[in-house]
Amino acid sequence: MLTPAEFDRRRSELIGALGPGCAAIVAASPERTRSRDVDYPYRPDSNLLYLTGFHEPEAVAVLVPGRDEGEFVLFCRERDPARELWDGKRAGPEGALAEFGADAAWPTGEMDKIMPDLLKGVDTVHYDLGQYPEFEARLGGWLKRLRDQTKERGRAPVQIAALDYYVHEMRLCKSPAELGCMRHSAALAVDAHKRAMARTRPGMHEYEIEAELIYCFKQGGATESYPSIVASGANACVLHYRENTARMAGSDLLLVDAGCELNGYASDITRAWPVGGRYSAEQRAVYEIVLEAQRAAISAIEPGVSILDPHHAAIDVITRGLLRIGLLKGKAGRLARDGAYREFFMHRTSHWLGMDVHDVGDYESGGKPRKLEPGMCCTVEPGIYVSPDNENAPKAFRGIGVRIEDDVAVTASGHEVLTAALPKDPEEVEALIGLL
Ligand code: GLY
Ligand code: MN
Ligand code: MN
Repeated sequence: MLTPAEFDRRRSELIGALGPGCAAIVAASPERTRSRDVDYPYRPDSNLLYLTGFHEPEAVAVLVPGRDEGEFVLFCRERDPARELWDGKRAGPEGALAEFGADAAWPTGEMDKIMPDLLKGVDTVHYDLGQYPEFEARLGGWLKRLRDQTKERGRAPVQIAALDYYVHEMRLCKSPAELGCMRHSAALAVDAHKRAMARTRPGMHEYEIEAELIYCFKQGGATESYPSIVASGANACVLHYRENTARMAGSDLLLVDAGCELNGYASDITRAWPVGGRYSAEQRAVYEIVLEAQRAAISAIEPGVSILDPHHAAIDVITRGLLRIGLLKGKAGRLARDGAYREFFMHRTSHWLGMDVHDVGDYESGGKPRKLEPGMCCTVEPGIYVSPDNENAPKAFRGIGVRIEDDVAVTASGHEVLTAALPKDPEEVEALIGLL
């Protein structure tokens, strides 16, 4: 778990980066209706969580560098015994001060009155436009009021600037405490995949495997970090398949892409295993190419190399492998240059991983692919998908989809595979199927 000191350090770093004359405003994500009077489970805005740890709806954090009365202001819902009887405990402004380190805290109802005062004398308001339109309309109102009242209040802010540029850079490089959270999340997702493998039997439905994953996540105090993909047979060729309704045959390969969010940090793992316990010759041939590509991509990860280097390593192995098994024809070098692999491998090898499964942070810097630094975390997930409709492919290969995905942290000397405890050698995987 993260300590209050960690949140304090993050705010100080941001305040230092913004400097005087600025204010940063971070609003909670709105609650969203599922149907009629039932909401979706609430998921707080990641930037607000990152800077405050505060997880209630309607909250708004304001950071004002150099403000004499305190730089961290938090608006939040008031304590309300009647509402708390139905919906659960609220921290209230008292809790915001005592538990979340705010220098000042007010009920959200006071925002219209207090926000213009907080923004008085501020030149630049850092706020990420375009995300929460209702809140934005209110912000627009406060700024107009300040512009209309320059006689009484002095100069109004002159610019709105992005905030996520700063916060996303901070989130991209994980602190030691965050790496601890990433390891826990990865370990729980590893357990869930092991259980899913062990519970797999021909005749089951994909949703029964999904249930095993969710069972593990919930047992560990986590939720899914994205809807689990449980794709048997040709469903594996749909990259973000989510129906999870098919009945699985013993001859099917099952692709499972599932991860959890534990204490605010995501994991993201994919394995592909044979429902009947043994890979067919064609399934295994494809699997081994993807495994070699994934190992080559992981080996490429170290500080100073580009985020695209693992991808290039994977493309090279996949192109040569597809040639070897006859799914591509021609010369390896030319096929790689022409991007012939894209018919079978149509996504990137890596994305950032952190509080969000597709985490924040630029992939380029100065017009070039980003260089890896210690503390960055990413996935490594090459795949080969042979469309069931690919009439150029031998019949036995059609409908085979394999992706192998692990979570990797960049370290000072190379990398750490956070999900290394989950087997991916074909024999080791086969030995786990149907054990429970
Ligand atoms: N689970 C989505 C992805 O692997 O990117
Ligand atoms: Mn992924
Ligand atoms: Mn995934």
